[in-house]
Amino acid sequence: DWTPASFIESTVAELKEQLGNDKVILALSGGVDSSVTAVLLNKAIGKNLTCIFVDHGLLRKNEFENVMKDYEHLGLNVIGVNAKDKFYKALAGVTEPEQKRKIIGKGFIDVFDEEAHKLKDIKWLGQGTIYPDVIESLSITGTVIKSHHNVGGLPDTMKLKLVEPLRLLFKDEVRRVGIELGMQPHLIKRHPFPGPGLGIRILGDITPEKVRILQDADDIYMSLMREWGLYDKIWQAGVILLPIQSVGVMGDERTYENTVALRAVTSTDAMTADWAQLPYEFLAKVSNEIINKVKGVNRVVYDISSKPPATIEWE
Ligand code: XMP
Repeated sequence: DWTPASFIESTVAELKEQLGNDKVILALSGGVDSSVTAVLLNKAIGKNLTCIFVDHGLLRKNEFENVMKDYEHLGLNVIGVNAKDKFYKALAGVTEPEQKRKIIGKGFIDVFDEEAHKLKDIKWLGQGTIYPDVIESLSITGTVIKSHHNVGGLPDTMKLKLVEPLRLLFKDEVRRVGIELGMQPHLIKRHPFPGPGLGIRILGDITPEKVRILQDADDIYMSLMREWGLYDKIWQAGVILLPIQSVGVMGDERTYENTVALRAVTSTDAMTADWAQLPYEFLAKVSNEIINKVKGVNRVVYDISSKPPATIEWE
């Protein structure tokens, strides 16, 4: 019978056997899959694993710093790279969603490659690919690096073999493995988050100021969701910054500011999703807090579309 404990035992033994004294590099995203992969590899080969965590400037508020602390707490050998400016520069003026994805994906590979080249004798590329990714690839770490690898994009000196210890698991199994490994629940229960991050939740072009507005609004939404005990009941939630200004009044003054949309869905696999029936009192609180505290937002709307025909993200 499959149990998290038996999976860990046999996988760690296999990894030791397969990897011997070889060195492995792995890109961490802050998400559940890459984190559990890292902890498994760390258990098997320890310091022969080097992890790279790239800040593309499109993460949630304080996410990079918080997640770096979590990784260090887990004893992982992790290199954090601040590449915000590089990404903001490459994205300036770009509005088309797929083009944004390409730029972010390529930027990510470039930074990863650059870091990888500073290391010596790497033989393997670890990836947090899980079974649904094998069927329908979605994540940056699951797709771009893999195709990059497969098309031979990595330089000759770095012909890396792939090691994907979670490739036969579903998400709920990955979470159970993470808990069994003693990882903190807040890491394990984390909602899915797209590789391009807030870059595809800012409709239209991306600027550091828009990122600031979205991070602040999103932080209020997520914090209240946790406070109200709603976070674990939701598959995924986030705020979308719309390219729409509208008129409002603040005190005695007329405002002409941005609109944000709140999104929250229930799902089991992201292939289909229902909009979450969040309590009105909660929505009222979130709306008030965002409008009162986030400079640049004067209107909040709630997305009541399910997938299909809508998608979870807006881009
Ligand atoms: P959609 O919007 O297609 O999203 O209903 C389904 C799931 O995939 C995530 N998503 C992405 N993840 N890179 C990713 O790593 C992407 O470009 C991307 N686009 C969507 C989305 O957040 C949801 O969990």
